[in-house]
Amino acid sequence: MTVAIRSRVTGVGGFVPPRIVTNDDLAELMDTSDEWIVERTGIRRRHWVDPETSTSDLALEAANAALISASVDKEDIDMLIVATLSSDHFFPGTACFLQTKMGISEIPALDIRQQCTGFIYATSIADQFIRTGMYQKVLVIGAEIHSKGLDISTEGRDVTILFGDGAGAVVLESTEVDTAEDPQILSTHLHADGSGATDLWLPSPGMAFPDGLVTHEHLDRGDQYPQMNGRAVYVNAVKRMSEGIQDALATNEVSLDDVDLFFFHQANLRINEAVAQRLGIPPEKVYNTIHKYGNTTAATIPLGMRDAVDDGTLQPGMLVACGAFGSGFTWGSMLIRW
Ligand code: COA
Repeated sequence: MTVAIRSRVTGVGGFVPPRIVTNDDLAELMDTSDEWIVERTGIRRRHWVDPETSTSDLALEAANAALISASVDKEDIDMLIVATLSSDHFFPGTACFLQTKMGISEIPALDIRQQCTGFIYATSIADQFIRTGMYQKVLVIGAEIHSKGLDISTEGRDVTILFGDGAGAVVLESTEVDTAEDPQILSTHLHADGSGATDLWLPSPGMAFPDGLVTHEHLDRGDQYPQMNGRAVYVNAVKRMSEGIQDALATNEVSLDDVDLFFFHQANLRINEAVAQRLGIPPEKVYNTIHKYGNTTAATIPLGMRDAVDDGTLQPGMLVACGAFGSGFTWGSMLIRW
């Protein structure tokens, strides 16, 4: 490898709201049980925001923590990218609200709507801007509030038990590399298959409705709540996350054994166990957070990275593979030399 411009992760940050909601707490609100949830998903608790908190508030906490971790001043950031499916408002994007809360202005502020694959899409976009030399420092944030948008009743239990609130962020900086051993994002791989769009979606508000963006009929039908074909999502998640990891390894001519740590999107522990089993990854190499956070969608991977740095699991020099799958369907992977 000759000298090349790449991006590298120089800081990570994360934030979950203080309120913990256990499976037993949910069982008081709907017909479910700790036993059912743990057995089917591995989730034991999740965090929910208080009523006053918005997605950009969570993003702000994670962004500030990532800036401190990278020792980068907010004024030196060239671009903000926020991945979220739970934006503060229908428009403008959450990145604009975040930018004002951060007290910086005029740099581009971009929202990415790729759901559980959002962080990988956002990181890939940031990586392209850095590789071309256009930007030197990009702040990438995944932030989600699910709790305010779920059907908290027995009717919505299949979806509601899965999700939690939180945010994670990374600072990506331009770096000159000589070899693949230098810290850098080695490659990113993005995919989508829109034929699965309605297997996991939130129909309303939406411009596709002939009767308007959001109507009483939509609300009576529950179109404002996420709707999921759990089986289809499960089967495709296992298949596509496995393919994504294989893609990343093949592109970089490395083997599974070369990878030190895997960050999979955390939707269901059984999905991640099935991916690991399919590929032959030892369980101790998969960093799971689902038991304590549930599915935090675009926040999941950076939040996991933050925890892994804090507890000493993720160390400089490690080869890290990330894989995600989500609504769209969208999926993606990336290989990082930490
Ligand atoms: N508590 C108790 N019972 C529940 C329940 C809950 N929270 N949710 C569903 N059930 C019931 C169902 O009503 C069904 O009852 P029935 O047999 O009387 O009809 C039974 O449990 C089995 O439901 P089923 O949907 O077949 O369970 P499952 O084993 O497929 O698990 C999921 C359901 C949602 C956990 C599973 O499909 C899954 O994880 N899918 C992927 C979801 C995902 O990853 N989403 C995010 C992707 S980014």
